[in-house]
Amino acid sequence: MDSFIITGGRPLEGEVTVGGAKNAALPILAATLLTSEPCVIRRVPNLSDIKFMAMILESLGAEVQFDGATITVRAKTLRGVGDYDLIRKMRGSICILGPLLARLHEACVSMPGGCIIGARPIDLHLKGLRALGASVMIEGGYVRAECSQLVGSEVFLGGRCGPTVLGTANVLMAAVLADGITIIESAACEPELTDLAHFLSSMGAKISGIGSPTLTITGVRELHGTEYEVIPDRIETATYAIAAAATGGEVTIRGANPNHLHAVIDKLKEANVRVERRGVALTVRRPDPLRSVDVTTQPYAGFPTDVQAQMMVLMTLTPGISIITERIFESRFMHVGELARLGADIALEGPSAIVKGGKSLSGAPVMASDLRASAALVLAGLVAGGQTQVNRIYHLDRGYESMDLKLQRLGARIERVPGT
Ligand code: EPZ
Repeated sequence: MDSFIITGGRPLEGEVTVGGAKNAALPILAATLLTSEPCVIRRVPNLSDIKFMAMILESLGAEVQFDGATITVRAKTLRGVGDYDLIRKMRGSICILGPLLARLHEACVSMPGGCIIGARPIDLHLKGLRALGASVMIEGGYVRAECSQLVGSEVFLGGRCGPTVLGTANVLMAAVLADGITIIESAACEPELTDLAHFLSSMGAKISGIGSPTLTITGVRELHGTEYEVIPDRIETATYAIAAAATGGEVTIRGANPNHLHAVIDKLKEANVRVERRGVALTVRRPDPLRSVDVTTQPYAGFPTDVQAQMMVLMTLTPGISIITERIFESRFMHVGELARLGADIALEGPSAIVKGGKSLSGAPVMASDLRASAALVLAGLVAGGQTQVNRIYHLDRGYESMDLKLQRLGARIERVPGT
């Protein structure tokens, strides 16, 4: 397992370009199963999660070709049963359930399983598919779904923590080929879900209310192939913005979409970080002392849970008390214990982390746990005095393309060390 060795204390300076959004590309790749014609998808990030999804599509019988950041998928013939071990490895794979059901009227997908940030139930996914007429059973670690024909229906998809992104994706992808009209209430409004809806529309799906909590889908008989470019990754953008602020440098982030980051930009400005929008670029610098801020994660357009850990690092550097409350996942504070190894002073009180900031961090070996916690540990290593070794960096490779190379180009002293 590879590690990063980081020597902290250097401000990041220069330009970085962000890639396509992982969390848009994954459901969009699943949506290619809805047609027998080829789909060409551009600006796909080079990530292990993407490679996994491609292997899953191939295990279902689709042809997949990579050409740099462009992937062509043709699901001319399809099997309804995916590779159990492949599918259970990646949570995002659950979003092949809807398209398989819509295309084949049957699907057998392994339960995605929980992960370190929470139980990750799929009850809302199944509620939505059942509302469209599918019979769904869970047996032997598999979700087995079948239907004679999906029929449009009205379904409320809000859960105890608000909407479900991939749950909305699954029901949306099933509804586009259902008989009649489907109305999804409390649909997720995340930009990645909106991107999926635009992709489906480019295949001939009839969807209205895109970007709103109410999606109305008029089923069609079949969808055709398409060419599509994935939106920029807003979470990668936010991660480099916070890295610039934390190290006290000045970084211009190119290829971004600042319109997807209002909550993050607002919070950074509240923390006394300078953020300037220049079209599809953001320039971030921190000429003045940071101010402590409170953060509560919410469904879009609120502060994204996927930026919570990175923001916590910034607050460990800020004199004063910051309260960071996680409202989306029940245990998304795995990074707290590791940040404490670097000298951070953070107390957990239920869904909140109370950060007593302003102490300087000092380097130490730390363990990555989940994707965004890993990013937070890298950011902490960039500012900690001395050397930080971030182990199990494979977590990071799932969602950040060439993070070490991008940071090196910004002046960071970071090396990837092959695992033993
Ligand atoms: C997506 O996960 C993202 N992953 C996550 O990003 C992101 O954190 C999350 O949305 C929230 O924005 C991908 O898109 C691949 P949810 P998803 O269903 O769809 C509860 C990252 O770091 N819930 O929106 O699985 C659930 O437990 C990853 O890139 C139910 O109760 O998340 C959670 O509390 C991490 N029942 C809340 O809803 C369900 O059936 C939101 O989960 C489904 C979800």
